[in-house]
Amino acid sequence: MTAPLTHRAALALATHRLELADLEAAAHDAVALLAHVLGRRRAEVLLDDTAPLSPEVAARLSRLVERRARREPLQHMIGSVGFHDVVLNVDRRALIPRAETETLVCAVLDWLERGAVSRPRILDLGTGTGAIAIAIANAAPGSRVVASDVSRDAAELARVNVTRSATTQSVALVVGDWLAPFRAGADFDVIVSNPPYVTTEELASLAPEVRDHDPRRALDGGSDGLGPYRVICDAAARHLRRAGLLAFEVAADRPGPVMELVAHAGFRRIECREDLGGRPRVVLGER
Ligand SMILES: C[S@@+](CC[C@H](N)C(=O)[O-])C[C@H]1O[C@@H](n2cnc3c(N)ncnc32)[C@H](O)[C@@H]1O
Repeated sequence: MTAPLTHRAALALATHRLELADLEAAAHDAVALLAHVLGRRRAEVLLDDTAPLSPEVAARLSRLVERRARREPLQHMIGSVGFHDVVLNVDRRALIPRAETETLVCAVLDWLERGAVSRPRILDLGTGTGAIAIAIANAAPGSRVVASDVSRDAAELARVNVTRSATTQSVALVVGDWLAPFRAGADFDVIVSNPPYVTTEELASLAPEVRDHDPRRALDGGSDGLGPYRVICDAAARHLRRAGLLAFEVAADRPGPVMELVAHAGFRRIECREDLGGRPRVVLGER
């Protein structure tokens, strides 16, 4: 009878398999998958490296490693992701929230804090998993957030996340096309959006995890990647109170055209913020 695999040996095998599949973070992903199948934290799995794996757990790990080697996103296999101060369910219904988008959340929270807006009303357009809306509602008690998406599937997932994060009292969900579901009126202090901004041409060159697993509607920003910004900029001012904030995430290589659209729509104090990697990521303007 052969001795059971230890954590360390299983991790070495899994890492090797993922390296063969050209995954940059092979060791990280191997630990994450082993922690997932064991239902334990990463640190525990690493500390307990001589512990044996049962054949059932080893077989489950091996199946997950094969799926990851075929470039299924790690987050879909684990089923959740940490974003800002919340944990969100993720699946094929909506884009996996990215760490860069936390920069947008922080910019909005900063602005709310500086302006000391009491009980701010916030609109998150294209909410996907609900990431931005939920993170803001969670960090800014008293805020009232409307989160909308054209995708009914995404809105259903966002509903699960609103319940999971206990923000049902502060986040309302709406299904519809950008600002079309809302009556014009200076109803919001903030309109925030991370719209689809990949150009149709760039779609084919995205990593397989993104291209084949995030919904196309969450990525495709049209021929120049600016289509959704145009629609939102055209209408946003009619829904914002005076001096209210319009806040966008942008593609790191083209903040300029979005700043121009925001300026052209009559917004003032236009500003661009960088993410932690020093790339331009957020465009802000005040009505
Ligand atoms: C880049 S994803 C952002 C998701 C989420 N806000 C985040 O940051 O993780 C863009 C979102 O916009 C939504 N969307 C695309 N077209 C839309 C439209 N016409 N009206 C409303 N939402 C739209 C997509 O369904 C998708 O959820």
